[in-house]
Amino acid sequence: MPKFKKIGVLTSGGDSPGMNAAIRAIVRAAIYNGIRIFGIYEGYEGMINGDIRELKSTDVSNIIQRGGTILKSARCEEFKTKSGRKKAYNQLIKNGIEAVVVIGGDGTFKGAKTFSDEYDIPFVGLPGTIDNDLYGTDMTIGFDTALNTIVDAVDKIRDTASSHNRLFFIEVMGKDVGFMALRSGVTCGAEAVLIPEVPTHLDTLRKHLEKDAERKKSSNIVLVAEGDDSGGAFEIAKKVRKEFKNYDVKVTILGHIQRGGSPTSFDRYLASILGIGAIDALLEDQKSVMIGYVDKEIVNISFAKTTKHHKTINKKMLKIIEILNV
Ligand code: F6P
Repeated sequence: MPKFKKIGVLTSGGDSPGMNAAIRAIVRAAIYNGIRIFGIYEGYEGMINGDIRELKSTDVSNIIQRGGTILKSARCEEFKTKSGRKKAYNQLIKNGIEAVVVIGGDGTFKGAKTFSDEYDIPFVGLPGTIDNDLYGTDMTIGFDTALNTIVDAVDKIRDTASSHNRLFFIEVMGKDVGFMALRSGVTCGAEAVLIPEVPTHLDTLRKHLEKDAERKKSSNIVLVAEGDDSGGAFEIAKKVRKEFKNYDVKVTILGHIQRGGSPTSFDRYLASILGIGAIDALLEDQKSVMIGYVDKEIVNISFAKTTKHHKTINKKMLKIIEILNV
């Protein structure tokens, strides 16, 4: 007899490329272990409203390569309330769901933790966000694809930037952290990167631009993390335009293009092994844990830890960018 007869799976918060690959792995690992699996649509919203439908193996055919999430996603305010969670619990009981796998970020795990503190239904989580800001995993599902999207876009911008001797401020996502800007800054050869973890000193940027002027280098790519204290790419561009009249300054906001697209091989792999890890964890009686990937190993880390601690950036990466721009 399998440990569970029926379990649920949902995606919540901002979607990320590879979520579909994760859903596929969870569905197939559940079925492999003799468990019926149900998709909960639109995250916690669907849990509250009872939008819950069974998924068969063929329902997840041909999705490993697709961006977005077939289960849809939402940021649900009602789940933050006691009455919302009570409604969600009643729906799980009504549908006979005995455990839930959630795929999402920090907010998703906070919701899952609160729910499992109140009700005796095990939840496990998979890190799904392009931001890579979750403590307890080296990589989140979607981060690698988003980096590749940034690099591809910046390469294209660089072509035109150098043809016209222009200085581009390119804003990338990442919420209040600079993981995406830092990593893609190295791999797209950015001349400078502005991130929230380090206060943006106009002075540093000024020195950098002056040095470039001496070298007669007139095209530049500066990556700006959306959460940077400069106020974003438009604000910093305004200040630089005032001071450096000889620079032709342009701004590009990459926006939601970073959230879409076919997942990279790495994201499909990560999603697949973590998805299987989630079912293994439930079968081993684990609950309230995120399945992470640390030093190429699958690890389980409690929701309490991953939501309490903050992952920190590696400041050496800034030095690397400086060295590469000597
Ligand atoms: O967390 C993922 C993310 O894409 C962040 O990088 C960004 O700040 C946010 O979501 C945007 O959210 P929304 O799509 O709701 O505007």
